Order: sequence, then C-alpha cells, then structure tokens
Amino acid sequence: MFNIVAREELNPTVTKLVVDAPFIAKKAKAGQFVIIRSHELGERMPLTIADYDREAGTVTIIFQIVGKSTKILNGLNVGDEILDFVGPLGVPSHIEGLKRVCVIGGGVGCAIAYPTAKALHDNGAEVTVISGFRNKDLVILEDEFKAVSKNMYMMSDDGSAGEKGLVTNKLEELLLAGETFDEVIAIGPLIMMKFVCAVTKKYDVKTVVSMNPIMIDGTGMCGCCRLTVGGEMKFACVDGPDFDGHLVDFDEAISRSRQYMKFEAQARDEDCN
Ligand code: FES
Repeated sequence: MFNIVAREELNPTVTKLVVDAPFIAKKAKAGQFVIIRSHELGERMPLTIADYDREAGTVTIIFQIVGKSTKILNGLNVGDEILDFVGPLGVPSHIEGLKRVCVIGGGVGCAIAYPTAKALHDNGAEVTVISGFRNKDLVILEDEFKAVSKNMYMMSDDGSAGEKGLVTNKLEELLLAGETFDEVIAIGPLIMMKFVCAVTKKYDVKTVVSMNPIMIDGTGMCGCCRLTVGGEMKFACVDGPDFDGHLVDFDEAISRSRQYMKFEAQARDEDCN
C-alpha cells in the first residue's frame, strides 16, 4: 500500500498527489510513468511521474478527472492509501547533449512537460517553455515552469491567461523570428502534438512527443498501447512514451483514443461512492 502524504487541487479538474514510494523515487527519471490502481476492483491507470524527491522517498503524480477511476483517485486524501503503484516504467526522456530546447505543454500535459523541462534545465540546457490552456482557471505549474526556463510564454484560447492564441502560433512566431532549437518537445492533447509537428516539420526542427495511449500491463505484453511510428508498430509502454513526432501516425492514435470516450464519460457520471 502506498500512502498519500500531500494533496493539492491545481485547478477544478486537475489534482496533485504526493505519494510515499521510496523505491520508485530512487530510480525515477523524467519522462517515465507509473501504473496505479487505487483499489482492488480499480482500473490500471498510467500516470507520468510529475516529480520525485529521492531523499523524502516520494513521487508526485498529477492527473485530470476524466473517468470513474480518476474520480475515485481524486476522492483520496492525505493519509489514504493507493493499492498498487508500480514503476518507474518506460524509457526516460533523452536530454543529454541538448543545449537549446523548446518545451511545449498543453493543458494537463504541462504536468508531464514540467519534469522534462526541469531535467533539461538541471542539465544546463537553455529552455524555452510555451504552455497553453483553455482559460486562466485551468492554468497549472506557472511558477514551476518559470523557475526552470529562460523564456516562458503562456497562451490561452480566450486570452484570459498570457496571450490569446494557440501554442503553435507562438512556436511559429519564434521560429519565423529566427529562434533556433536543437529540439522541440511537445506534450499535450494529440491534436496539439500533431499540429506542433506540422509546424516543426516546415522548419526542419527535430520534435519529440510524449504519447499516452490506454495501457493495461505497462510491460509490453498486452499490445493495448500500440502506435504506428515510422510505419512500424511500437508499444508506448516499453518503446516510449517519447517518440519522434514526425514519424507518429497521429490520425490513427486520435481515432484509437476516441474509442472509449463515451464509456469513460458514462462511468464518470455514475455515482461511484
Ligand atoms: Fe500493454 Fe503496453 S500497456 S503492451
């Protein structure tokens, strides 16, 4: 059992939990994830490690309330326990040798983008962050990103936070103005990552995306997390979650991600007490 030692609501639909998990904290690296099950009959959920503290032995996860399982998880408080908390899983983000990087986070994807931005910063890279939200009420991790970036731009759909517009508008503005990056790292909704890749392809900038498909075992056995990358089948849990964005078949990934949306919404709206 894994004890929850801190809990914070970052916005009305996004919650941060700090969990006592010393063995995972010891080995965790940016870009990796855990699979959790909050109770015996609970669904297995992959959640990216948003932060870790090796000394305190804690791992931080940040999640959005999407379906029944995340609703149940959101109901847990400090002192409550999570039944299974398995990891670290997946290949850590590649950060070595990168000097100038643009990290783009969309919505709750910022929770995944932050540890990567922090790891790059700690490794001496000059980090530009572009974060995007629907509106000011959904903004998360603003101070955290500022602390690890040289330049930080925030975009919102309605202009209530930062500038009005999409992350791709800001990215293209920077590239048009002659900004250069060794790599762009984009993490957020599939549609956002698809269009970030369309922009960077035009400017020939290497782009890495973090894919977060449905997962069951997280060890390459079930095939549930399969994606097509460069015409080959890859498993996000063991080959990723980071992939070359210019090679990912986003249309296929988007169509697969929509398969269970109706069931997720139904389950979330049921009384799950
Ligand atoms: Fe089963 Fe990746 S989650 S193969």
